[in-house]
Amino acid sequence: MSAGTVEIRRSGSTAVLTLRREAKLNALSTHLERELLRALDDKAVTTSRAVVLTGGDRVFSAGADTGELREMTPEAITAYYRDSGAVYEKVAGLPQPTVSAVAGYCLGGGLELALATDFRVADATAVFGLPEVGIGILPSSGGTYRTVRAVGPARARELVLRGRRLSADQALAWGLVTEVCEPGAHLEQALRVAGELAALPPLAIAVTKRVIDAAADTPRESTLLLEQLAYASLNQAARPATEDPT
Ligand code: COA
Repeated sequence: MSAGTVEIRRSGSTAVLTLRREAKLNALSTHLERELLRALDDKAVTTSRAVVLTGGDRVFSAGADTGELREMTPEAITAYYRDSGAVYEKVAGLPQPTVSAVAGYCLGGGLELALATDFRVADATAVFGLPEVGIGILPSSGGTYRTVRAVGPARARELVLRGRRLSADQALAWGLVTEVCEPGAHLEQALRVAGELAALPPLAIAVTKRVIDAAADTPRESTLLLEQLAYASLNQAARPATEDPT
């Protein structure tokens, strides 16, 4: 099924969302972001056990649509985060495990989108970078936040402030991607990872995703408490109905 710039399909229990704006290197226009938001509410996604996000074989995404950026007033930017700009957090908040399958350019908002997923599989052609500061802005769809958490503050400065570009192998060495594969094998490999995750208990995955996210910002005592409470509720949910609770 295609919603225009975002194609939705299923591969078994995994939903595959493909950005389809190749002529503009999958630049993330507000139109594309809105279609991605809608796609996330599609039944094919909401009933899935894992989600793969890809831009196809040539490019993941060259980032925010630079044509639109020039036209945005401060008021429009504030409104943007309530509208299509919410898509990055929506991806990050999905209960299912999520995997980005990256080939070619993965820049700016494209990298921010990939960072909003749980895992990133890159083929050897992938190029990662955050060029925003070079054009007078900054990564502002969770990019600074997630980059620091993915690679640490020193390397985040290289990416965000110096606009350093990374090959797939460098991105792997820095911990920005989870694995690297042969050119063109990224989708197949991402589907393999997604398939493994899809076979795991969905409630355990959903709860643990939230605990991991919280752990990045929460003091140790609170994180330990969160773990224990999550464990207690998951254990309760996993208990066979016939078991005597006493
Ligand atoms: N927004 C809007 N359009 C974009 C785009 C973006 N971020 N990135 C690429 N495009 C468009 C180009 O304008 C061009 O359209 P046209 O054929 O109608 O002129 C088409 O996509 C192909 O891009 P092109 O620049 O010709 O490809 P390239 O292979 O020579 O260079 C890049 C690829 C990614 C290096 C280059 O396109 C680029 O630097 N893009 C902007 C990246 C960026 O700054 N992103 C972050 C924005 S905050």
